[in-house]
Amino acid sequence: MNCPLHQLNGKRALITGGNRGLGLALAKGLAAHGADVVLVARTETQLQQAAAAIRQTAAVKVDTFAIDLDRSSELEAFFENVVDTAGPVDILVNCAGVNLRGPAETIDLDTWQQVLRLDLTAPFVLSQAFCRHRRRLDQPGRIINICSLLSAGGRPTTAAYAAAKTGLLGLTRALAVEWAPYRINVNAIGPGYFRTEMTEPLYQDPAIGRWVLDRTPLKRWGTPDELVGAALLLASEAGRFITGQIIWVDGGWLASL
Ligand SMILES: NC(=O)c1ccc[n+]([C@@H]2O[C@H](COP(=O)([O-])OP(=O)(O)OC[C@H]3O[C@@H](n4cnc5c(N)ncnc54)[C@H](OP(=O)(O)O)[C@@H]3O)[C@@H](O)[C@H]2O)c1
Repeated sequence: MNCPLHQLNGKRALITGGNRGLGLALAKGLAAHGADVVLVARTETQLQQAAAAIRQTAAVKVDTFAIDLDRSSELEAFFENVVDTAGPVDILVNCAGVNLRGPAETIDLDTWQQVLRLDLTAPFVLSQAFCRHRRRLDQPGRIINICSLLSAGGRPTTAAYAAAKTGLLGLTRALAVEWAPYRINVNAIGPGYFRTEMTEPLYQDPAIGRWVLDRTPLKRWGTPDELVGAALLLASEAGRFITGQIIWVDGGWLASL
């Protein structure tokens, strides 16, 4: 039986990027604790596979919506459509993201803007729509933003991603303060290195693989399910007095000199 503090029965969580990788692991984890889930991403086949996998392990309602979150101006109407179709959303997890690498000197403006649109603008616009939705219902809400070690430091060829993810952490704090009167808690999770489709090329590169192990005190990569504990804390009653924080789930990376 689940701990009552971490129960999510009767709640619905919308997870962007919920069709694979970290987003799917978060969706599975929230569903395992009773939350209905809404999975949002572009790839319809992966959305259906993810929904089937969740339904196999949890007796919850799973809805899927395919959309390109790059289309910033359509996201408010999209969110309203989700609510009309699937029902009220209590928890918003902004997990979809992309890291388009390139030397800062030469990275083109389109690439820069694409990363910012997906990794920063989409979470902002969805958060705005979520806030208005919760206020209309006069109900509290939770937002969880998936940040990165690049929210805390820089690496070569990651200027756009680092700018977006550091911005996402700033946005987390600003919204937490501004929306506290509405009982909307806004927090972030900062993952270290987890093996997913996004990081597979890094994982396969022997030099980078060694560097990650050297820098991670726990001496291994994270597995996506290891983000669930932090998300549960931030989504459930257990975290009701936590807002404006980031929880680093990084195997000790940022604690190490
Ligand atoms: N893996 C790590 O070590 C790590 C570390 C720190 C932070 N993160 C962050 O964690 C998040 C998830 O990353 P991941 O490792 O799980 O990567 P991933 O496997 O590549 O997943 C990315 C997710 O974002 C969705 N997405 C990408 N572009 C989209 C678009 N234009 N519109 C809608 N959805 C889009 C993808 O679905 P579709 O392609 O189907 O749209 C997919 O669900 C990202 O924000 C990433 O920056 C990851």
